[in-house]
Amino acid sequence: MDNNNKILSWLVHEMRTPLTAIKGFASILEDENYSEEEKKKFLNIINWECKRLELMLENISDFDSLISDEKVIIRKQKDIDVCSLGNKCLEIQKIFSKSKHSLVKKFSHEIIKIHTDPEKICQILLNLLNNAVKFSPNGGEITLSIKLYNDKVIFSVEDEGVGIPADKIDEIFEKYERIDKNIEGKGIGLFIAKHLVRTLGGKITAESKKDQGTKITFFLPIE
Ligand SMILES: Nc1ncnc2c1ncn2[C@@H]1O[C@H](COP(=O)(O)OP(=O)(O)O)[C@@H](O)[C@H]1O
Ligand SMILES: [Mg+2]
Repeated sequence: MDNNNKILSWLVHEMRTPLTAIKGFASILEDENYSEEEKKKFLNIINWECKRLELMLENISDFDSLISDEKVIIRKQKDIDVCSLGNKCLEIQKIFSKSKHSLVKKFSHEIIKIHTDPEKICQILLNLLNNAVKFSPNGGEITLSIKLYNDKVIFSVEDEGVGIPADKIDEIFEKYERIDKNIEGKGIGLFIAKHLVRTLGGKITAESKKDQGTKITFFLPIE
């Protein structure tokens, strides 16, 4: 695959989530049964996902840098409340989850604020949540946890799905690496996630038991 084709496959991979979310929430908006407050929340997500799409196109050079293993430049730094961001990602993920999955959140009670790029964190979390749904074909719980530990925020996404064999776990963050070829995928989501986490100054790890489930954890420094 030449570089242009690679960039195209990254874009297709990353743009699918916001597009599906926009389509999904826009069609819900036509439903009379939702309250004005709920509709406002859906509109907020549509706006947020449109902004993410716009940023992806503006920052195509990010994909180029990732492919050549260069550092992605973080342009936008804001003080963000990570639990609100986690809630937003869960709302978006609901559009993709089949009813057999239950999305559970375990968030710290205190407000955790970090100075970082919210779109990048959303991109990482949605990649992990998408995988959790995709690799749990029989359903089960998917838990997003966010907690504070010393001077770090720890995020984890845990599922009860197909799991990863112990001897393959180190490979999953590599480019185009896919373990279970029966489930559709391109093998770039975790590679993107690993690079973004590293760029934000953190680290990502995986724990898994075959046929029992997987837990992907990453931390970010609070500064
Ligand atoms: N939650 C998970 N449960 C089981 N296997 C997983 C999970 N997340 C990732 N994997 C494994 O890691 C591989 C790489 O993941 P990813 O880069 O997101 O690629 P893709 O989802 O396109 O296959 C997957 O193909 C799968 O084999
Ligand atoms: Mg994936």
